[in-house]
Amino acid sequence: MTTVTLSARKLGILLADWRTSGPAYTALADRIGLLIIDGRIAAHTRLPAERELAEALILSRTTVSSAYRELRERGYLRSVQGSGSVTQIPLRERASSPLAIPGSQRYDLTAACPAAWPGLRQLTERTLANTPEIFADRGYDVVGIPELRERIAARYTERGLPTTADQIMVTIGAQHAINLLSRFLLRRGDRALIESPSYPHAFDALNATGARLNTIPVRFEGWDADEIEALLKRVSPSAAYLIPDFHNPTGMSMPIETRRRVIRAAEREGTTLIIDETTAELPFDLARQSIPFAAAVPEGEADHVATIGSLSKTVWGGLRIGWVRSTPSTIRSLVASRPTHDLGTPTFDQHVALNAFDELNDIVQFRSQQINASFAALTTALERYIPEWTLFPAEGGVCTWANLGAPVSSALTLAAHANGVGLTAGPRFGLDGEGERFLRLPMSGPADDLDGAIQALAEVWHSVMAGNHTVAAPLVDVV
Ligand SMILES: Cc1ncc(COP(=O)(O)O)c(C=O)c1O
Repeated sequence: MTTVTLSARKLGILLADWRTSGPAYTALADRIGLLIIDGRIAAHTRLPAERELAEALILSRTTVSSAYRELRERGYLRSVQGSGSVTQIPLRERASSPLAIPGSQRYDLTAACPAAWPGLRQLTERTLANTPEIFADRGYDVVGIPELRERIAARYTERGLPTTADQIMVTIGAQHAINLLSRFLLRRGDRALIESPSYPHAFDALNATGARLNTIPVRFEGWDADEIEALLKRVSPSAAYLIPDFHNPTGMSMPIETRRRVIRAAEREGTTLIIDETTAELPFDLARQSIPFAAAVPEGEADHVATIGSLSKTVWGGLRIGWVRSTPSTIRSLVASRPTHDLGTPTFDQHVALNAFDELNDIVQFRSQQINASFAALTTALERYIPEWTLFPAEGGVCTWANLGAPVSSALTLAAHANGVGLTAGPRFGLDGEGERFLRLPMSGPADDLDGAIQALAEVWHSVMAGNHTVAAPLVDVV
């Protein structure tokens, strides 16, 4: 495993305003632990030498060495001969799936992943009973079974984007599709754009290619078309990853005119747009169903748009069915490059997905009602317990973004964990420490839990604002 080195300057940026009223070494250890567990510092990263970090943070060497010792004792760091202090995920977290400790928190606001659509169990049993022939072959394939590819293509066509089966590749969820496209489009040193804030594992996938990232701000007012055009022109990126519908984490949607301008500007620069529509079929109000992003321009003018879809947020994340829609030639290249990393999508899951497509309109209706109820419960609870936070104007999706009015998201996350509320700090959704004023709040769970969760969070919030930060492990990762 190669070890990357984190400079003292970069760690200083990530740490931002880390001090609390407690001892400096514990505050430093807590904050570095948070950065490791939420993925902002990857496992197997070499931390700066104690002396360098002490100089950069204007601390005594003893404080830094005590913090590192504390992190070693908690399992976040190991000493490697000749390599100094190297990060790792503590064993307790590693033992469960993948970093979370189910049930370790009273309220879990880290995940924006709904439980299975209630009809799924029956549908799975039906699939098992009605398709015995699927067990007669090897049970997985790299491009997707023809019936499912046709079905996905037909749904795009129904939603306003004419599509044929040879434009579709079935993947193991949307995250897999993001990785496949990133690896296909980007090489070390290439430029890439991503919104800020954005879905954290998309940052990870783009970063893993070695591309240099620039960010497109998504503000309370939304996307600024002039700014995106200027950025595309200046950076001329090979790829840009966007979530234009019910964006994760803000829940906002990009206006149609902005879409047209982005598609045309990207075309001029030779930039491929990776459009993540994982949450695109989840408006609060079903009358506001989105049309696919690539349908914003006339047919034939969006060949440089690669669209990602998934059943994770509508049917169930446990099904692991996603897809890429692109030109037939891009699909052929993606298929050719796939077996190095995985050998294909399970056929059984694809058959379950095929049957789920028969009921997708009902499933979407069920989900929209569910997230709408959760958003209403969230808004009511925030008005009641933390009225000073401002929620972004979400229109759908699985989460929204709260402006806390102060750069304390990491401090709040640490204190909340110690008090039984799992959170993911705002900077996990940005680059280099951006996002300390913000917090993602999911609405994928049951609406009934939200009042209790926000009440518990409000207690922690008030104590953090009063300067009383108390902190303890364990922490959980974001999904
Ligand atoms: C925007 C976005 N893209 C991709 C994913 C990953 O989806 P999947 O479970 O289909 O891999 C998620 C999951 O939260 C998401 O919110």
